[in-house]
Formats: sequence, C-alpha cells, structure tokens
Amino acid sequence: MSLRILLLCHSFNSLSQRLYAELRARGHLLSVELDIADSVTEEAVALFRPYLVLAPFLKRRIPASVWPRVPCFVVHPGPPGDQGPSALDWAVRDRQPHWGVTVLQADGEFDAGPVWAHAAFDMRPATKGSLYRREVTRAALQATLEAVERFAGGERTAPPSDLPTPTWNPPMKQSDRAVDWSHDDTATVMAKLRCADGQPGVLDALWGQACYLGDAHEASAATLAEFADRTPGELLAVRDGALLRRTVDGGVWIGQARLADPPGTAPGQGHFKQAAAELFATDASALPQRPAPLVRPDDEWAELRYTEHGPEGARVGCLSFDFCNGAMGTERCERLRAALLAVRERPTQVLLLMGGEGFFSNGIDLNRIEAAAHRAGDSAADESWRNIQAMDDVALAVLQTTDRLTVSVMRGNAGAGGVFLALAADQVWAHEGVVLNPHYKNMGNLYGSEYWTYLLPRRLGEAGARELMAGRLPLRAADAQRLGLIDACDDGLREGYENRVIQRALALAGSYNHSEQVAAKQARRAADEAHCPLARYREQELARMHRNFYGFDPSYHVARHHFVHKLPHAWTPRHLATHR
Ligand code: COA
Repeated sequence: MSLRILLLCHSFNSLSQRLYAELRARGHLLSVELDIADSVTEEAVALFRPYLVLAPFLKRRIPASVWPRVPCFVVHPGPPGDQGPSALDWAVRDRQPHWGVTVLQADGEFDAGPVWAHAAFDMRPATKGSLYRREVTRAALQATLEAVERFAGGERTAPPSDLPTPTWNPPMKQSDRAVDWSHDDTATVMAKLRCADGQPGVLDALWGQACYLGDAHEASAATLAEFADRTPGELLAVRDGALLRRTVDGGVWIGQARLADPPGTAPGQGHFKQAAAELFATDASALPQRPAPLVRPDDEWAELRYTEHGPEGARVGCLSFDFCNGAMGTERCERLRAALLAVRERPTQVLLLMGGEGFFSNGIDLNRIEAAAHRAGDSAADESWRNIQAMDDVALAVLQTTDRLTVSVMRGNAGAGGVFLALAADQVWAHEGVVLNPHYKNMGNLYGSEYWTYLLPRRLGEAGARELMAGRLPLRAADAQRLGLIDACDDGLREGYENRVIQRALALAGSYNHSEQVAAKQARRAADEAHCPLARYREQELARMHRNFYGFDPSYHVARHHFVHKLPHAWTPRHLATHR
C-alpha cells in the first residue's frame, strides 16, 4: 500500500534526501516540511493529511498537538535504548566498535517511544559526518523501510521486543571533547576531533585565538620525523590549507577552523569555517610548507592522490581529490587542474576521477567566497567569479583529455557544479548510496556553469535537461542511471567499491576496442566543437553567472550567506512542500 508520508526535518539534509528519494521510488507520496515552528508543522499535517510523519533529522520535539493524532516515526542515530541528542558524537568519541539506528514512534519523551525497527553497523575510524552519510544512512534506510512496510501492511503498534533499558546520554559539551595537547595521544585527539566534525568542532585556540577545529587527519611518521623534538600542541607546518600540530606521540593535520564568536553575536553575524591556514594566513605564513607528491604512501595525508593500476597498454590512472565537504575553492581547482595536466602525461588508457571519499564535489566553495566579502580589497562577487572560472578550467581539462577514456567515479554525494563537473568525463559511475543534486537554482537561482549547457542536453536532451534543472530534487544514483544522467550504479557494499571500480576500469582499459572508443570520442568532440565551440558555451553561461554575482538581484548572495551561516529556514521551499 502506498502511504502519504510527511517528512518533517530540521533541514533537508543528506539522510532526509536519501529517505525521500527511496520512499518515493517505492511508490509512496512524499511531502516535506522543515521544522520551523509547531504551528507550521500543525498546518502541514492539516494540509497534507499524512498517514505517517517521518522525522529523519530533528533538533526539537514533535509538537504534542501532532504525535497523538498522527503516528510519527523518529529516526534516532543510536541503537535501541540509546537516548539523547549527541548519540553519534558519544559513539565516535568513545570509539564504540558497533553502533546502530533506531526508528521509534514519538510519544512525548525524547527518543523514548516504542521501537518499530532498528539496524546495527560496525563503526569505522572516521568522522561523525562520514559515518552519518554512510553507515548511519544505510542503517536508517534499512530500519525506516522495515518500519514503513510494517505500517503500510496494517500494523498500528510497534512489534513486541526485548530491548535494553533506556539510557539518557546528555548533549555533549565542549569540555567532553576538549583536547589536552600535553597528555592526549594521537588516537584520543583524533577521536575528539572526529566526534565534533561538521558541527560543532572542538573548541581550542590557535595563535592565542579561541576557535573550533575540525577536519583532522593523522600525520605520518615520515612527515613527523623532522619535528621529533617539538612540544605537543606546537604548530609545525602547512599542507593544502591544513596545519600540522604535534601531539604527545605523533601529529595531526587540522584542515578547518572557525573563530569563536563573542557572546551575544547575532545570527548571521558570526564566524564560519574556513581552511585553517587561510583563516590564520599571516601566522601560518611563518610555518614551512610541506606539500605532498601525488604518488605517495597510503598513510601520508594530502587532498590529491594518484595511483596507477594494470599492465602497460591497459593501464588505469586514478586521481582522487578529497576536498573537505566537496567544496572546490579557486586554489583547490587550480591544484586539481595542475594535477590533471600532470597525470595526463602518464601512459594510461583510462583515467578515473575519483572525487573524495565523502563527496565527489559540491561545486564552488561557498565559505571561501563568503570570507572574501570580509577581506579588504576583495568581494564575494570577485571570489565567486574567480572560483567559477577555476571550476570551468578543471571541467575543460577533463573535456580536453581526448587521448584516453575518462570516468568520473562518485563514491559520495555530489551537488550543483560538482555533478556537472563529473559529466565532463566520458562516463560517470556511482555507488548506489550516492545522492545527486544536479541543479543550481537552490543557491539563490544561480544559473550555473561547468559547461552544463553542453553536457546535460547531450545526455538528457533539451527537454530532459530543463526538467531536471527545474525540478531541483535529489536523485538516487539508480534514478540518475535510469534517466541516462550517469552510466553505471554499483549496488554492492560501499566497502570495496574502490576495488570494484578499478577492476571495471581495467576491463575498460584492456577492452578489444579501446582505441575505437577513443577515436569515436575524438570524432564526437571534434563534431561538437564544429557545431558549437566549448568557448561559446562557457561564455554564455558565464554571462549569466556574471549577472548572478554582480547584477542587481542579490538572491545568490543572500542564499549563500544563509547557507554559510547556517541560518534557520524561514519557510519550506515550495518544490518540497507539495502540500502548500
Ligand atoms: N561550499 C562550502 N561548503 C559546502 C558546500 C560548498 N559548495 N557544499 C556543502 N558544504 C558544506 C556544508 O556547509 C556542510 O558543512 P558542515 O560541515 O559545517 O556541516 C557540509 O559541507 C556538508 O553539507 P550538507 O549540506 O550538510 O550536506 P548534505 O549532503 O546534507 O547536502 C548539498 C548536500 C549538496 C545538497 C548541500 O550541501 C548544498 O546545497 N551545497 C551547496 C551546493 C552549491 O550550491 N554549490 C555552489 C554552486 S556550484
């Protein structure tokens, strides 16, 4: 039976998007209301008349005027019995070996209602955000589908079960995650930074300024060798915008930092996350730069990495660009383009563009652009302009790689320009857990570039491209493949996906008609270029983007400001709230 399900969420985040797309694919009728105020939720329930309210990501209780009238399923990122708003934070900090997700029915107590379904998973040594987007999402999907199927099958009470006594775990405070640089070993420092990753970060200080730290990576023994005599807590070097900091038994690279706000800072006026070495640019410039080569041992962290696989004549090159949050600022784009040009010199038959582990790419770096607005002699419009040109240059380098086959591999989600960058390759492969947001308009009606006006219609046709862009909806990888937006969707476990991709690429590199495929691609590119040069697509897109950045309509700047400052939503976008 198909159900009318109202998705009630604090924001339409990755988990909400995944559940939305999966439930719709199973024939349920979905509408979304962001949790803005009790009266708004009440109104949404009255308008949509859902059989079920599903709350995948809430920061407040469901109003008492709603849950007694309509069954409300809450997705809690903890196993049965776990209660409290920092479930995953505690699990990561305490390095739990296993964790889980519970779907329970709201009954007025926080996380305490009857349990409809739950699913367990093994923990990975990774950040809270990475676990959330991968293991938690997979378990949440499994448990939610189970609960929804039960409900759709006519069950109206949760199944009887023998569950552990509930334990309330309080919100995690900064003192619970504070790093003691003079005592904490690297594993402890990593666990504390990882459990705060994304939000809220670990409150610490850099060069005497209070700030929140995040995006930590363990440093290798080889890198630390020259800093063996340094004091724990000392800042040592810079790489890819990250700061290397000594621990008692090693060191960590700190990728992101946000200055602490003075008490009473108004919403939208506070500080936001930036690359740590850019935020403290003056102080960091006194530290030595320690860039890492593209080819290096696995334990040596840096954003870009290149590996090669297979025999001569059927060789696969694999370029990953693991940029925090998939945000591709100007400088990152420039480094990526330089790497692309360098690996093009290698004798490979297939080049894989692997994006990052967590995100393939989310397009231009909105935080870095916001930062430019606060810099003397610079502006958000200017940085947006530089950034989109640099993104386009990366896409162009991919499009102009015509002497071999190129494949974009989406291991994690992709949004806006990040999706269209992927389309610049000959093929796009994705893992089934990936959610794509192949549209720009949600960011203040941004027109978009990355040659999308060339790349999208050639896959979907003019009408299909228009529909996708206007729909502004998240898409599962499987749906993207069905539409022809991507070419392959792997439905094996996420663990091992990279290996399966390389095997597939090796087969492509060694295929009997590889040279015919390359010749066909070259012919098509030449014909397309004769029909309309890439430069013209770019020029036309950038003319529209110029208006977005510099024109009289400030929508993009307003939307970016809201996004970067994480301002609460004032209303639910109408394309999601179909009941309105
Ligand atoms: N620039 C800077 N930061 C970005 C970013 C971007 N383009 N895209 C995402 N992020 C950050 C988010 O602020 C968030 O930061 P946090 O670590 O402080 O929480 C983090 O990445 C994860 O993003 P989130 O929105 O929580 O992920 P999601 O999977 O729920 O949603 C998107 C994915 C793509 C829908 C959403 O991030 C988005 O709309 N991004 C902007 C895309 C865009 O408009 N790019 C510019 C045009 S090309």
